[in-house]
Amino acid sequence: MDIISMRSLSKDNVTSLIELTEKIESGSISLDISGHLVALLFFEPSTRTAFSFDSAIKRLGGQTIIMQETKSSSVQKGESFADTIKTVSQYADAIVIRSAIEGAARFASEIVDIPVINAGDGANQHPTQTLLDLYTIKKQQKTVENRKVAIVGDLRYGRAVYSLVYGLAMFNAELYLISPEHLKIRAYVRHDLDTMGIKYHESEDISAVLDKVDVMYVTRIQRERFAGQYEYEKVKDSYQITRSMVESASLKNNFTLLHPLPRVNEITTDVDSLPCAHYFAQAKNGMYMRQAIIASLLGAV
Ligand code: NCD
Repeated sequence: MDIISMRSLSKDNVTSLIELTEKIESGSISLDISGHLVALLFFEPSTRTAFSFDSAIKRLGGQTIIMQETKSSSVQKGESFADTIKTVSQYADAIVIRSAIEGAARFASEIVDIPVINAGDGANQHPTQTLLDLYTIKKQQKTVENRKVAIVGDLRYGRAVYSLVYGLAMFNAELYLISPEHLKIRAYVRHDLDTMGIKYHESEDISAVLDKVDVMYVTRIQRERFAGQYEYEKVKDSYQITRSMVESASLKNNFTLLHPLPRVNEITTDVDSLPCAHYFAQAKNGMYMRQAIIASLLGAV
């Protein structure tokens, strides 16, 4: 099995991974993948995803080989993506791959026989981020079902957003999609939400939704995906969550503020100590969820 897109996972797949993650975090299950080696291929920068996969695998007793960007690999000599992936698959039992190119992980999964995990492909999908996001929502809200969730920021280029929308749709969320006009979610998603019968509202105004939602998921404006600096400058500071904004809203009980990180200016650092701020815990949850994912794909469960 591969993990390429939230659109190709079932609700059962997701629920079992969440349940397994709960057991891993609480220590009620102990899994062992010793003797297995996983390749982490990051053709784009990463802190959390790379390190949490690496620590997840090592905490399961497995080993990793890592490529962080392509400077020291034969990609610099002109080796093709396909040849690089096929070569790495000779050494490893699974491949985790991040690329700027949409469809890269799917393509990799089609040319090798070992499991492939998409750790982000361009502005397309980032399914393991969504799995850890859903796990975090479950933990904070006690359920993932029927949540009112605002997704704020770069809804055009944010791959974490594209995965999350499909993940939340499985659990019948009501979505508040907040973005500048130019960064609205792409049309195919609106079409899919309509087909699935998922309620959603689009708006540019964050203050109107703060006290309506159970979860607010804030995202970074994805500078690297813009055609030019000028386009980026126009929208870069569109939203900023401040402490006074949060404190003056009449928030729902259990209001949960999430961000996949890295943040630039979207949430001021004085928000971090508020009880609703869960983004660093969210990053830690990524390590538990990635243990569940790796152990499942390697047949250790
Ligand atoms: C996200 C990504 O790479 O898409 N980061 C992450 O994996 N936590 C979000 C982002 O870069 O803004």
